[in-house]
Amino acid sequence: MPQTLSVIKAGVGGWVGHTAVHPDLLDVGREELAKAVQRGLLIDGQAWACGDDLFLIMSHDRGEGDTDVHRLAWDTFSLGTEAAKKLKLYGAGQDLLADAFSGSIQGMGPGSAEMQLVERTSEPVVVFMSDKTSSGAFNLPLYKTFADPFNTAGLVIAEALHQGFAFEVHDLKSQKKIVFNAPEELYDLLVYAGSPSHYAIKRVIARATGEVAAVSSTDRVAQIAGRHVGSDDPTAIIRCQNAFPSVGEAIEPFTTPHLVEGFGRGSHLGPWMPTSLRDAHAARFDGPPRVVALGFQLAQGKLIGPRDLFDDPSFDNARHKANDVTDFLRLHGPFEPHRLPMDEMEFSTMPGVSARMANRWSEI
Ligand code: 13P
Ligand code: MG
Repeated sequence: MPQTLSVIKAGVGGWVGHTAVHPDLLDVGREELAKAVQRGLLIDGQAWACGDDLFLIMSHDRGEGDTDVHRLAWDTFSLGTEAAKKLKLYGAGQDLLADAFSGSIQGMGPGSAEMQLVERTSEPVVVFMSDKTSSGAFNLPLYKTFADPFNTAGLVIAEALHQGFAFEVHDLKSQKKIVFNAPEELYDLLVYAGSPSHYAIKRVIARATGEVAAVSSTDRVAQIAGRHVGSDDPTAIIRCQNAFPSVGEAIEPFTTPHLVEGFGRGSHLGPWMPTSLRDAHAARFDGPPRVVALGFQLAQGKLIGPRDLFDDPSFDNARHKANDVTDFLRLHGPFEPHRLPMDEMEFSTMPGVSARMANRWSEI
């Protein structure tokens, strides 16, 4: 029986400001998932936080896009919103952009990444959670893990990976998709994947078997809301070992804290800092952007874990580099490229300010 792993996430209240999730909201998440396991909707479920976002990691056998699983996530986020309102937390219900659930969580604000799989003899998976970044942020790490032999030795030396991977890329602005086969279409892939504000890698497929190897959330909150409500703070799932990259190859890209959008009012570039769960709170200039990697072994759908994979001194250099890059970028203040380019600011609060100047501009 194929299983499904669904990670659905939302920011429904920050403690304090946009920095972290209050323990009461995590309790709501854990209680609602435990009840769903008890009544047989889920095989297993865990709730975790990265920055001010709540991530529901759910294992079940109902397939992707299941209405009841999506409704569970929506109802849990709604209860979390109520808890946030009681404590007057910041931005209560921020990512819930509809008045009522209407069958699928997609297009309603929360982000979702789901994959169906037939559990192998041993099924290691890594769930990535992020804060203060945008959909498309996983393009670079997914590219490195599944297409760069300097990152993933298995692409060269392991027969099962040698056929390469196919990348499903979504155009976030026109809602179109395209599939590129790596390695032969690498350069074509990079034309689009290299522009993460416009294109996001949604799925990676193992060409040898047709199995899904990775999936990420590509939901754009500002586009759905038509205004800036917060950053997307995407999630991703990667299957590891055997026909897939090793766990080490899946987390190796994060040894470089590459620049992502979503820092400071969701309007700045910042380095993506890999942190432990303990350090996954975004404070300095509401950041820097964070990413947490939770490792699980699946056992008949049970989530055995997590192992907090960035809670490791081998990521200290990446964290130091992220702090150095933050110091340097912050010196730019309101100047690009720290501040996002004008056309990326269309959903920010800036158009409201610049509108006041509109009739003061004249021909040169
Ligand atoms: P969140 O979406 O993580 O709440 O971030 C909002 C923001 O722009 C903080 O500066
Ligand atoms: Mg957030």
